[in-house]
Amino acid sequence: MAEDLIIIKTESKEEQYQSLIPQIEALIRGEDDLTANLANISAALKEQFDWLWVGFYLVKEDELVLGPFQGPVACTRIKLGKGVCGKAWQDAETIIVEDVDKFPGHIACSSASRSEIVLPLFSGDVVIGVLDADSADLSQFDETDKVYLNQIINLIQL
Ligand code: SME
Repeated sequence: MAEDLIIIKTESKEEQYQSLIPQIEALIRGEDDLTANLANISAALKEQFDWLWVGFYLVKEDELVLGPFQGPVACTRIKLGKGVCGKAWQDAETIIVEDVDKFPGHIACSSASRSEIVLPLFSGDVVIGVLDADSADLSQFDETDKVYLNQIINLIQL
């Protein structure tokens, strides 16, 4: 397996995702270790988009616990319903936050974060974790990110 990613720099998010997704698929194909795959997905997304923070929280008992990520150090544990991550877990739905200061209960792991997207990770009908991405820019994330990030997490064998 070649470990170097081809990173295209273009204004189009769609083109960036369309270039990245087959590479992520190749990276994790044949590997069934969840930690390894989440680590490589985090690294690939960070390299392509250079967001402030991107990574995973995994459900352990009654909390989300920090998993593989790229970016500044982050909060270790998040309770059900708390912050954007805990709410996405509770509602089993993707949340796009255009301005984190306007999201009641947002947990500021980094004061530089301005906008965020959190997608639930399912095993069957059960949420077993979340993918969280944070940007230093307002309104960074939209429906396009939701669609393509969902495609990426659907590649993970759970
Ligand atoms: N902002 C998140 C916490 C996780 S960090 O952003 C990495 C939240 O409100 O749940």
